Amino acid sequence: MEPRGLPHRLRTERLLLRQWEPTDRAAFAAINADAEVMRHVGSGPLGRADSDALWSQLHHDWTERGHAPWAVERAEDGALLGFCGLAIPTFLPQVLPAVEIGWRLRRDAWGRGYATEAALASFDAAWHRMGMAQIIAIVHPDNDRSLALAERLGMRVTNRTTHAPTGWDVLVLRVDRPAPEWPETRGLATRA
Ligand SMILES: CC(C)(COP(=O)(O)OP(=O)(O)OC[C@H]1O[C@@H](n2cnc3c(N)ncnc32)[C@H](O)[C@@H]1OP(=O)(O)O)[C@@H](O)C(=O)NCCC(=O)NCCS
Repeated sequence: MEPRGLPHRLRTERLLLRQWEPTDRAAFAAINADAEVMRHVGSGPLGRADSDALWSQLHHDWTERGHAPWAVERAEDGALLGFCGLAIPTFLPQVLPAVEIGWRLRRDAWGRGYATEAALASFDAAWHRMGMAQIIAIVHPDNDRSLALAERLGMRVTNRTTHAPTGWDVLVLRVDRPAPEWPETRGLATRA
């Protein structure tokens, strides 16, 4: 199921998840050029042209397809921190059909819970606005921070597979939509 109709903007306590703007390109390029940020990303660090191409893809996917990872902006100063959100993992055909959550933040924004906050907002939109039933994450087994984040979010490893273009082994993690809570269930029962 394509995650169509996702909200274009989401506010959290400290963040704004929003559409991509042309003025993001320079800050996005700095993130994508950082070898530490890109260590476990299949493409490796990106030069400016490749980063701009990725920006264009994200922008295009939002405008033409209605979904892509959001740009993550810090509310207090408007700084672009990176991205977080939902995508179709076409780079790993053996897991399709599926919707994955992806995340990438600039190095000096790690260790503050921003990715957790952005991912929880993404899940909330997926479960409660889209009615999606399941989300996966695809993570290199050495990517300790990404694995810790996924596990903090309640995701669990379901299998290990190979990303053919890089030959990398990757872990597939999954989380299911939480069961309705008691008051919601009671409301449905009352109406029945
Ligand atoms: C994956 C990535 C987004 C995780 O970032 P992160 O900073 O580790 O995750 P969070 O933003 O949720 O922060 C969690 C840390 O902040 C701390 N923290 C502080 N305040 C917090 C809060 N309010 N809520 C949650 N955690 C908080 C946690 O204790 C944890 O600390 P630790 O770093 O000592 O473990 C980041 O490492 C990254 O961009 N990596 C490069 C790109 C990448 O590999 N992407 C994934 C490809 S599969």
